[in-house]
Amino acid sequence: MSDKAILELNGERFEFPLVIGTENEVAIDIKTLRAQTGAVTLDPGYKNTGSCESSITFLNGEKGELRYRGYSIDDLAENASFIQTAYLLIFGEFPTSEQLAKFEADIKAHSEVDSRLLQIVDSFPNSAHPMGILSSVTSALLAFNPSSVDVDSDEDMYKAVVSIMGKFPILVAYAQRKITNQSYVASDSNLDYIENICSMMFKSSGEPYVQNPVIVAALNKLLILHADHEQNCSTSTVRIVGSSHAGLYASISAGISALWGPLHGGANQAVLEMLQAISDDGGDTKKYMAKAKDKNDPFRLMGFGHRVYKNFDPRARIIKKAADEVLADLGVSDPILDIAKGLEKEALEDQYFVDRKLYPNVDFYSGIIYRAMGIPVEMFTVMFALGRLPGWIAQWKEMRSRKEPIGRPRQIYTGDTLRKL
Ligand code: ACO
Repeated sequence: MSDKAILELNGERFEFPLVIGTENEVAIDIKTLRAQTGAVTLDPGYKNTGSCESSITFLNGEKGELRYRGYSIDDLAENASFIQTAYLLIFGEFPTSEQLAKFEADIKAHSEVDSRLLQIVDSFPNSAHPMGILSSVTSALLAFNPSSVDVDSDEDMYKAVVSIMGKFPILVAYAQRKITNQSYVASDSNLDYIENICSMMFKSSGEPYVQNPVIVAALNKLLILHADHEQNCSTSTVRIVGSSHAGLYASISAGISALWGPLHGGANQAVLEMLQAISDDGGDTKKYMAKAKDKNDPFRLMGFGHRVYKNFDPRARIIKKAADEVLADLGVSDPILDIAKGLEKEALEDQYFVDRKLYPNVDFYSGIIYRAMGIPVEMFTVMFALGRLPGWIAQWKEMRSRKEPIGRPRQIYTGDTLRKL
């Protein structure tokens, strides 16, 4: 391959260098395009635009590959804990046992939040969406932890990381307890990260909480699978907000708002809402399969297909197994889950879905697991945020460490030219 791209514009020839990634992805470096030619590129949705160089996550949608720092998602889901994966994403290397022990202890040391922050959660109406609560109180964390982070200091960066890793699950758990009208359960430093999340979310007050290893293992996998997905909407938001040198809490808070939408993290909630609607309509899955295939009907099977993964979603394969294990262990009898299983079977055997390579995606199975665990449907996207936290931190840290410039896209103005009143 040549090492440059040639552009011809108004009879003039311009040369732009190529950037080749370690997995041989090719980019045309147009940093000097406007200065050289006076023109800009137009790419709404940025589907052809690399916004940064990154060494965190590699994704190949055609081949169904996802790797964090070079390790395959299958390897990590099978052999690593969420905290090991978080360390890997944020600091670039799999932790040694000493690094891991210190990381876990330091996170535990930060696993508390100012009681006034909990009062802020309390002052929301019970009907508030927990993503709105989470975004607000994550931003509010700064008010109660105002020391600024010197991004050139490894120590400062490390402190910021363990602080948000410790505090975030508390906010997540309290958002759930708020919307389900339950009192707050404090973090327990005798438990590991995932067990502590389960205890804070599910413990009935006054009663001991018995951990279920199947649920702990499934949650560990789910959080690993969601931990990063390169430059998606929420991650790009975190990077662009951080590029103005807004702090980590503010940047993560913005990422939570971006994740909230049904076209992004809200898809797992949409899956369960669809299953509920099918159930309310008599549970006839065949009728809804026919609707999904009917070109005159806007209905789509939520949780099927993926914009990037065109053959299969590697995360879905892993999580399907975990879903089967959780359902078998809990022995839940739930008509909604029966509908999900029915749709999954019918779609996998249906020529329309086979021809278009439409497979259940990670959101299809994550919603099923969360429902079986007894997590309210509004919390599903919050659980996605809990998993995505290390990815957002890693991307923010990388962007600040590389001293990336402030994000400032251009536009092509199409409004009125100068008018007079
Ligand atoms: N149900 C029925 N038909 C579908 C579905 C579906 N879920 N998804 C795609 N198709 C069909 C389309 O109608 C189209 O058919 P055609 O070729 O006969 O016109 C074909 O499959 C290709 O579909 P596109 O829309 O071109 O695929 P695209 O890549 O643009 O969309 C998307 C991907 C948005 C995820 C789509 O599959 C969809 O709407 N799925 C349901 C929503 C969902 O689950 N979203 C979450 C994705 S996971 C995530 O974001 C983390």
